[in-house]
Amino acid sequence: MLVAGNWKSNKSFNEAQEFAHAFARFPKAPLGVEVMVAPPAPYLAALGTKGVPFLLGAQNVSSTGPGAQTGEFTADMLSGCGVTDVIVGHSERRDGHGDDDDRVAEKVNRVLDAGLRVVFCCGESLHDRQSDVHFDKVLRQLESGVLHLSAEVMSRVVVAYEPIWAIGTGLTATALQAQEMHAAIRQWLSEAYDTDIAKRIPLLYGGSCKPSNADELFACQDVDGGLIGGASLDPESFQALVEAAGRAVMNREKPKA
Ligand code: 13P
Repeated sequence: MLVAGNWKSNKSFNEAQEFAHAFARFPKAPLGVEVMVAPPAPYLAALGTKGVPFLLGAQNVSSTGPGAQTGEFTADMLSGCGVTDVIVGHSERRDGHGDDDDRVAEKVNRVLDAGLRVVFCCGESLHDRQSDVHFDKVLRQLESGVLHLSAEVMSRVVVAYEPIWAIGTGLTATALQAQEMHAAIRQWLSEAYDTDIAKRIPLLYGGSCKPSNADELFACQDVDGGLIGGASLDPESFQALVEAAGRAVMNREKPKA
């Protein structure tokens, strides 16, 4: 299970440090649960140098290498700051910041070439869902974003399914909606690669995931954790999500009666 926080453009640098201190006082993540936080980019180097009680993620990366690219930061630069994971293809970047399918695919390549793990986001709009094209939409995003990758680098790919209508809206996909999309993604991965690879790729759910609904979502067979926005900003609620993931791991390991 992977519980990943995406802070988006929230928190001052002091607040980010306070979060790290508060979070360090909680018990270590349960066995089988990885914790990652993606703070705003300007804080990464300082947090990475100081050491933080979670894996450090970036919310964005340049689609190019080094050079005359004012304002961009490369995957290698992130790696040098202690970043292990990079979120690519988030709907807020696809819709508002020009990350079309081609650019998303380039970013995926850059992240993997730098030896980092990519958290590849996909998800449909409300209109897509109401028009019953949500599966097509998500599988097309996967096709253009990851199908070109070798089986070898797929071990450093995480897929986050984030229905756009559930992001920051308080609306959450039902466990059934999440599970059926995750199962479709798993199936697509097993056809594009093989069942072993498909089984090993963590599939995260994102979209108003919070302590009150995490147990139900994390209990779904093909949900391997969450990409959390709002509920990752407070250390207590983020910790509650980590504990929910711990319960899901325990329940999965229980022998079936
Ligand atoms: P919320 O959890 O605030 O809905 O955000 C989800 C998200 O976009 C994480 O990347």
